[in-house]
Amino acid sequence: MAATTGFTEVDYDGDGTRRVPVLRPYAINASGDFPLGDDDVLVVTGGGKGITAECALSLAKKSGVALGLLGRSAPEDDEELAENLRRMESAGSASPTHAPMSRRPTR
Ligand SMILES: NC(=O)c1ccc[n+]([C@@H]2O[C@H](COP(=O)([O-])OP(=O)(O)OC[C@H]3O[C@@H](n4cnc5c(N)ncnc54)[C@H](OP(=O)(O)O)[C@@H]3O)[C@@H](O)[C@H]2O)c1
Repeated sequence: MAATTGFTEVDYDGDGTRRVPVLRPYAINASGDFPLGDDDVLVVTGGGKGITAECALSLAKKSGVALGLLGRSAPEDDEELAENLRRMESAGSASPTHAPMSRRPTR
């Protein structure tokens, strides 16, 4: 939705308050609290393997954030991905969800 110009994502809460979510850089204050916690979900494209998986795992260990991982591979067919998901699960409060993406868009 962030890349579109013809549509706007809108939330209304129970009181009828209208909110429009926007993407913005997260300000990191080196001397303040870490900005992610165990109430947050971190969505990481390509987070199942390689350097991105290591970064996601490190952030999850530090913050307790839940991980939502996107990639094309399936853990049943990819031992590196399966092992990384096991490592993430055993890292404590990180509970990874891996969602496969299609290689080609389908309609
Ligand atoms: N490794 C390093 O030390 C290092 C250092 C500096 C920069 N980099 C850069 O960091 C990136 C990752 O490197 P890597 O060595 O960690 O690679 P990698 O081991 O091949 O991991 C790539 C990850 O990206 C996912 N991926 C690949 N194509 C994708 C797509 N079209 N859509 C969504 N996910 C996709 C893969 O999952 P699926 O196969 O399941 O899609 C996998 O989880 C590269 O651009 C590399 O140049 C790496």
